[in-house]
Amino acid sequence: MDIILNSIPKKNVSLGKKMNALVLQEKGKALDYKKVDTPVATESEGIVAVKAAALNHRDVWITKGLYPGIAYPIILGSDGCGIYEGQEVILNPNINWGETEAYQSAQYHILGLPTNGTFAEYVKVGKDKIHPKPAHLTMEEAAALPLSGLTAYRALFTKCQLKVGEKVLISGVGGGVALFACQFAIAAGAEVYVSSSDNDKIAKAVSMGAVAGGNYRMADWTKALVAKAGGFDVVIDSAGGDGFKDLVKMCNPGGRIAFYGGTRGKITDLNPQIIFWKQLSLYGTTMGSDHEFSEMLAFVEQHKIVPVVDTVYKLSEGNAAFEKMDRGLQFGKLVLSIGD
Ligand SMILES: NC(=O)c1ccc[n+]([C@@H]2O[C@H](COP(=O)([O-])OP(=O)(O)OC[C@H]3O[C@@H](n4cnc5c(N)ncnc54)[C@H](OP(=O)(O)O)[C@@H]3O)[C@@H](O)[C@H]2O)c1
Repeated sequence: MDIILNSIPKKNVSLGKKMNALVLQEKGKALDYKKVDTPVATESEGIVAVKAAALNHRDVWITKGLYPGIAYPIILGSDGCGIYEGQEVILNPNINWGETEAYQSAQYHILGLPTNGTFAEYVKVGKDKIHPKPAHLTMEEAAALPLSGLTAYRALFTKCQLKVGEKVLISGVGGGVALFACQFAIAAGAEVYVSSSDNDKIAKAVSMGAVAGGNYRMADWTKALVAKAGGFDVVIDSAGGDGFKDLVKMCNPGGRIAFYGGTRGKITDLNPQIIFWKQLSLYGTTMGSDHEFSEMLAFVEQHKIVPVVDTVYKLSEGNAAFEKMDRGLQFGKLVLSIGD
């Protein structure tokens, strides 16, 4: 899109003006809803009036100090949607991905740390990170998409090279990235199975087109699910931990596993024989390139995918959203509505 510097009326963005924001002042503390200075753009940047923003687990990890490079005070938030140049826009959270599609540059970081993020009335981003909002989505739905959608897209399509008709297992489907992976895989014509700690979340995934699921808190859930599905060609996981070895056992020969998180800690007791004998491929994956972000938006538009929004909170009520995510109670994304 054609983007013009400081396209928001100057009175809204000039130095010295204040805006409402959620600010993390210190590790382990609730976020402060307070007035701060509006950002000021350089020539390559634009100021977007944020209308909706979404949480990712990364934001919760940061409030707990469990992330490298935290500097306080910081406005968190990697996902955002808003108005720029009079148009509805969605933001690519990548900063400095670099030239190589296979991995990010050493200068890579994600909007919302250390750069101030979207949990505010205005955010400053590179002009090349501003994209038209998919027309079929509301601001709240679109805000749910960027970070999780990008991560899910790369894991499924770039890394695992998902093909029509393949059997896919999405672990922990209540997660933001996991639910996009589930929706994308269904849209791509895969046969999708899920796991969750919560039978209601499994039922919701099935109502969206998944075939079946297993509760990973139950003994023998893996055997029961393999008995139903007959094994998996692709597995998407963010838990890691001691359950990861079971995902490997659930794979068909030639299977691919992509993992992007370590919520349950270090992977233990992985049996190399199973991996090499079944010719499995294990892919670590993180976010996605700017090119993949554009591809992901096109995929969402083509298949008219609508992100699942669990709850919309006012920006001033943002701490409640953090608490809900920390307790893992959500199915889909937790969104903050901003302004007006
Ligand atoms: N590398 C990257 O680019 C990248 C990008 C995004 C996220 N991440 C990481 O990925 C993880 C998830 O992020 P998110 O934003 O999607 O978080 P989220 O929305 O809070 O989802 C976390 C989900 O993890 C699932 N889970 C917990 N324990 C599990 C287990 N033992 N087995 C399977 N699933 C389990 C739960 O699913 P149920 O509720 O269904 O039980 C929960 O909903 C975080 O660690 C985050 O930092 C990494």
